[in-house]
Amino acid sequence: MNLKTRVLRVDASASVNTSNSKKLGDALISRMEAIFPGMQVQQRDLNEDISFIDEIWVGANFTPPEERSEMQKNRLEFSDRLIDELRHADHIILTTPMYNFSIPATLKAWIDMICRAGVTFQYSTDGPVGLLKNKRVDIIITTGGVPLQSPADFASNYLEQVFRFIGIEDINIFAADQMSVDADASYQNALDQMAQSYAVNTAA
Ligand SMILES: Cc1cc2nc3c(=O)[nH]c(=O)nc-3n(C[C@H](O)[C@H](O)[C@H](O)COP(=O)(O)O)c2cc1C
Repeated sequence: MNLKTRVLRVDASASVNTSNSKKLGDALISRMEAIFPGMQVQQRDLNEDISFIDEIWVGANFTPPEERSEMQKNRLEFSDRLIDELRHADHIILTTPMYNFSIPATLKAWIDMICRAGVTFQYSTDGPVGLLKNKRVDIIITTGGVPLQSPADFASNYLEQVFRFIGIEDINIFAADQMSVDADASYQNALDQMAQSYAVNTAA
């Protein structure tokens, strides 16, 4: 990582001022800023603006760019913007709670907007190939009762799969799971994982 690390922060929790995952995101950003002073952070709050796949979107996506109608181009504009944000970033920080054993619907909608054949992945004779290269993603996940990696966790492996699918191999999960059991211990556990990952000497 270099001193000009460009970070895209994506927040998925519906909670605005009381979100544990967002608070952990703030802590991670503060820690990183101490290590990478030139770091730039762009923020995307999925509760402010999101869009869903519909028939026009699907048709537009499978129409070659030079043949798209104005309506089709307009329909893909939001997806294009989200993908540009990803392309511009060296580093993605995703903060998300577990909702109903998986991820919030807003985050699923974001994933549907950024997984685009021919844009963020393509098919080859060896199967799909991710097209976003040389990026790292830090995923912060909070849960109430479900331990991550337990049979009821349909969030963490899914998110890892999605990022690998679009070419991002450097994937780190900072977990504050089972917060309803011992919130302080769980929160501290995530902070400790961050401290391990971002010790001051990681700047070298
Ligand atoms: C709508 C909703 C669904 C939830 N579903 C689950 C769940 O399936 N499993 C779980 O362990 N916790 C669940 N929780 C608890 C949250 O994951 C937990 O409180 C988390 O810390 C919230 O993070 P946040 O404060 O960043 O929103 C749910 C919370 C909400 C609001």
